[in-house]
Amino acid sequence: MAGISQQRVKICLVLCLVGIVSASTYSTSSSSTTSSGTSSNSLLNPLFYAIKCPQALGTIKTLVNNAVAKEPRMGASLLRLHFHDCFVQGCDASVLLADTATFKGEQNALPNANSLRGFEVVESIKAVLERQCPGVVSCADILAVAARDSVVALGGLGWSVGLGRRDSTTASFSGANSDLPSPFLNLDGLIAAFQKKLFTPNEMVALSAGAHTIGSARCLLFRSRIYNESDIDSTYANQMRAHCPKVGGDSNLSPIDITTKHVFDGAYYTNLINKKGLMWRFHGHPATLAHSPARRVRSEKCAAE
Ligand code: HEM
Repeated sequence: MAGISQQRVKICLVLCLVGIVSASTYSTSSSSTTSSGTSSNSLLNPLFYAIKCPQALGTIKTLVNNAVAKEPRMGASLLRLHFHDCFVQGCDASVLLADTATFKGEQNALPNANSLRGFEVVESIKAVLERQCPGVVSCADILAVAARDSVVALGGLGWSVGLGRRDSTTASFSGANSDLPSPFLNLDGLIAAFQKKLFTPNEMVALSAGAHTIGSARCLLFRSRIYNESDIDSTYANQMRAHCPKVGGDSNLSPIDITTKHVFDGAYYTNLINKKGLMWRFHGHPATLAHSPARRVRSEKCAAE
């Protein structure tokens, strides 16, 4: 079962950024929620909602475009939300489940707390889809499509998203803490974290460095790099220090790609080679990327109570 889940994570994320069309078998299920939270009995298909909710993809695209037009960073936040969903127990929308008296979700795990964003956009998309096609479109699929549409809204290439994921009714606080890669991992640690989900080092570089061409990071996560490390462009480091003091300002934000912060392009890689990596540095080969040392939402519509 764990193997199947890992495989699904890999499929979801590879589809995300590499754009391979997913497998072709239709699922016949019509409910968007399962108690197991998995959809492993079926392969994903881009046409999954073609008959049951033909307007679904258009609705998601419009609402994502609106959200990104209002705040470009939201595109980055929605992409990351999908990643943080998939890496814990598969792409099952478990990340949307907030804590209850009897349940500890993923939102307060270390990599997510005060960091993950975009919940309200997913909630509003789900609300509209519930009016259009009640009980049909899963939140896990909304997350996957919203991630793709966000990348496109910010100038990236589109890809076909396989659909038919089911929403989980469980989440894993401990899994989020153990499986989401820490920003303080070294290269071996990053490779191991992705290997656990069946990704190769090259895929890890494509996914993580590729995605960090958009979005922002908090000062506390890159302070050590801009003050203590030598293999960083000094003008760039000074620029970053202006918004990230040695003490205080932990939550101050800086763009991860300083060149084109709201454009999904290749500038992040060029910046790395030019020693302008905010959290990472580059050592000459694509696989040698090295790393220097909410809102709480209970989404009633995305999971059974
Ligand atoms: C290699 C492992 C990874 C590590 C260690 C990592 C770490 C981080 C950190 C520390 C931040 C800043 C968070 C904050 O300031 O609160 C961040 C932001 C971000 N990450 Fe990653 N990340 C990784 C992989 C990925 C992947 C695979 C994706 C997507 C496919 C991704 C997408 C993003 C995006 C888009 C942002 C900006 C989010 C925003 O502005 O709201 N990351 N990441």
